[in-house]
Amino acid sequence: MMKEGLKVAVVGATGMVGQTMLKVLKERNFPIAELIPTASARSAGSTLHFSGKDYTVVTVDEALVRKPDVAIFSAGSDVSIKWAPQFAAQGTTVIDNSSAWRMNEKIKLVVPEVNGNVLQNEDLIIANPNCSTIQLVMALKPLHDTFQAKRVVVSTYQSISGTGMAAMKQMEMERSGEDGAMVYPYPIDRNCLPHCDIFLENDYTKEEMKLTHETCKILGDDKVKVSATAVRVPVSGGHSESVNVEFEKPFEVGNVRRILNDFPGVKVQDQTDTNTYPMPLYASGKDEVFVGRIREDFTQENTLNMWVVSDNLRKGAATNAVQIAEFLLANNRWS
Ligand code: A2P
Repeated sequence: MMKEGLKVAVVGATGMVGQTMLKVLKERNFPIAELIPTASARSAGSTLHFSGKDYTVVTVDEALVRKPDVAIFSAGSDVSIKWAPQFAAQGTTVIDNSSAWRMNEKIKLVVPEVNGNVLQNEDLIIANPNCSTIQLVMALKPLHDTFQAKRVVVSTYQSISGTGMAAMKQMEMERSGEDGAMVYPYPIDRNCLPHCDIFLENDYTKEEMKLTHETCKILGDDKVKVSATAVRVPVSGGHSESVNVEFEKPFEVGNVRRILNDFPGVKVQDQTDTNTYPMPLYASGKDEVFVGRIREDFTQENTLNMWVVSDNLRKGAATNAVQIAEFLLANNRWS
């Protein structure tokens, strides 16, 4: 099977994350024998170009019948809840980018560099974490291993691409002065909305609570407390996070920089005399998690401030999902 590659379905192939998944699969030379681009009935029958070939977009029921080896889902929770178990039941490995399965006790929530080791052969539905959580745990993991994080206070500056195509259209319309459908309750251009995803009963948003819960699950440590404020900003690609972490153990900033830089997938950009720090404009289109503005919080013992930036559609979604598939491939899932 491996000589010819795998049968790969991308569910949500016409969406923002789905399009990035196709790009990343191609860039990383993922061994694809047959691509099954999948979307809603609205797009079924349309043509999608991938790696020099034209493919017809199909509906999810048609993709199921074609029994892919792996199906990467990014079409929202409803689609994942309905369809992922049906794919898994026939032996397809599902890597799901929605929030549907992330906190399910039986489902692994994976960032390969951080906790790829939890994956076992019987895991047929694997959850891809929330974009803001992925970049946070990439920066936290190596520091947690060394200094033991106690409490994290994170404020996010999230790009509109995380909301999908409709949000990109809203900002374009606002910029060109046209009227049209609004996905946000307020204008997003020249604005900041302290409101990502829906409000919950505790007055936090669902996005904020994802950061709290998913971080502990991925780090495998319920003792780490995470307090989050998630903010949508008029940036088209790349999420930024201001992160304050209190550790059990003392640290030295130079050592923190080295530990972060040595962690696979993390790159330190931190030199104040040359104005070197991560920014979404430059992180966009890249796969790394960039960390800068690393400094001691002088108001509290063993506490660090840092600024963490990553492309939310790539490491925050598509790249991480493809890396999960690569991890399984390397561990002989399909041999
Ligand atoms: P479609 O383009 O046909 O609507 P985004 O979040 O960027 O808007 O992308 C959402 C993705 O999920 C799109 O590819 C969209 O397809 C797909 N999608 C939405 N609803 C369904 C559904 N019921 N079944 C399959 N795919 C869906």
